[in-house]
Amino acid sequence: CGIVGYIGKHTASSILLAGLEKLEYRGYDSAGITLVNDRTLQTRKFAGRLERLVNNINKQPIEGTIGIGHTRWATHGEPTDNNAHPHLNNKQTIAVVHNGIIENYLSLKNFLIEQGYTFYSETDTEVISNLIDYYYENELLAAVKKAVKQLKGAYALEIVSSKHPDEMIAVRYESPLVLGIGEDGYYLASDIPAILNYTKSVIYLENGDIVRLTKNNYQIYNHKQSLVKREIKEVSWDIEAASKEGFDHFMLKEIYQQPEAIRNTIERRLDETGRIQLNEINFTKAEINAIDKVYIVACGTAYHAGLVGKQVLKNALQVEVIADIGSEFRYSDPFIDQNTLVIIVSQSGETADTLASLREAKSKGARILSITNVVGSSIARESDHLLYTWAGPEIAVASTKAYTTQLVAFYLLGLYLGRLKETIADNTYQARLNELKSIAKSVEHVIENSIEPAKAIAEKIIDCNSLFYLGRGLDYYSALEASLKLKELSYIHAEAFAAGELKHGTIALIEAGTPVIVIATQSKTYDKTISNIKSVKARGAYVIGITTSDHKDIEQVCDKAIYIDNKQDIYMPIISVILPQLIAYYTSIFKGNDVDKPRNLAKSVTVE
Ligand code: G6P
Repeated sequence: CGIVGYIGKHTASSILLAGLEKLEYRGYDSAGITLVNDRTLQTRKFAGRLERLVNNINKQPIEGTIGIGHTRWATHGEPTDNNAHPHLNNKQTIAVVHNGIIENYLSLKNFLIEQGYTFYSETDTEVISNLIDYYYENELLAAVKKAVKQLKGAYALEIVSSKHPDEMIAVRYESPLVLGIGEDGYYLASDIPAILNYTKSVIYLENGDIVRLTKNNYQIYNHKQSLVKREIKEVSWDIEAASKEGFDHFMLKEIYQQPEAIRNTIERRLDETGRIQLNEINFTKAEINAIDKVYIVACGTAYHAGLVGKQVLKNALQVEVIADIGSEFRYSDPFIDQNTLVIIVSQSGETADTLASLREAKSKGARILSITNVVGSSIARESDHLLYTWAGPEIAVASTKAYTTQLVAFYLLGLYLGRLKETIADNTYQARLNELKSIAKSVEHVIENSIEPAKAIAEKIIDCNSLFYLGRGLDYYSALEASLKLKELSYIHAEAFAAGELKHGTIALIEAGTPVIVIATQSKTYDKTISNIKSVKARGAYVIGITTSDHKDIEQVCDKAIYIDNKQDIYMPIISVILPQLIAYYTSIFKGNDVDKPRNLAKSVTVE
């Protein structure tokens, strides 16, 4: 979910709606706002896309210069008008928007029912407005402070009250919230793009912070409830970076931005002699030698980057490396001690499953190194070492440039740590680094050459019921990412299989005409993959092979062959994911789907 707030001199509704539009990537199944005007609360909220709310407000505007807004990704209760935020207390005097989850909401709800409160939605949030009401005497801030003490879970909250028409309270705990300091008022939002049109001066609120805002003043109380001063930071990127710049969709723009994003991620890490310098990671040689195990933990696309990272770091550090998904890792009793390095990968830096894993690992004494794209995100702030992917804002739900820059981050890390540990010889280091520096150019080339083949494949697969992506080793990891992209965007059932494993059961699903896309770039396993292709071909599959230009023999076993640039095997995941990204994009377009906001998904999932 995403929340936004404004208190100041201007009409709040247009600022809130513009902000919500920028936050839709965090969820988009309902939206609502509440404005305080003339000692009354005026609320409009609807299930469905933000557009419904915008049309309603355009027809019947609401006055007021103080307001809060919410765009929802449903967790507790279906997307209905009733479950949409803001949620009011029974007396309709307090309105709350909430991003996160209240884990103890049932016991609080039962308690409030015993006190005579009635509930009209299935959400956990309605508990909050009534709980504030329960504690309310005549100060809003005091009531909020008491109420949040009872809440367990994660929450970024904005609260307004008809009894306090010149005041807004905000709370941040485990869910992101930034405060924007403008000339004509104050802004609140889950993420910077929502307020960037109005101000670039922001305060990243910390866990436990409670903010009281009036039109020309603000006070921040920390988790101990003492008044604190927080540093105001200037955001360095502007709103153009977060808009489509002429592309039809954010996703296409972001696919095209990959060469630049890759260059940014690499070039900031080169010293004057052209060698990798990761100043942000301060390992001594003794410390890196002491590390005897590495865990990589992430979700979704970031996990797929982690799988490639596993191979890169195993090779570079010569220690055991395990990749796991966030929601599993935390409960898997991992063997961790102070000699374990835990690498957390997350585009947003806010994914709840990943953040929980970070904390679990930290509590067991591991060192935490995070790879994230969002400066100041929760994951960034709680890590011992940080490697930012300088991909710029990624808006499309389906991740592209964040993924390829995560891969780059692993390559840089592997080379840097491998050299520090002297497990990689200097000539190997030089050769690999030179190749890495040339990757952006190849990606550019592959994008240009993939547009037409991607469209043709999209047309071919658009009506299929299911599709398989196959690969071995690193190609298998690329297949996993390729099939996730296709599922997310086209809603076609797509599965990735290790090409050698298919024969142990899943091959039963291959019928005449079933599309099978094979990624075959790894020299060690190329011949074996060709045998696997033959066995699916023999069952009638329609096979598309993606390989490098030195493997023309693939044409003899495939129905269609597509050649991509040839790089060292370890780097092929960056090159081979481009065509599948575009296949997913065009299949979604041809089906008339919403590419940037596919159904049921959210860009940043801040619930476990
Ligand atoms: C969501 C998104 C995925 C993303 C995953 C992890 O499920 O829909 O595209 O890969 O979260 O996100 P993160 O921000 O942690 O990389």
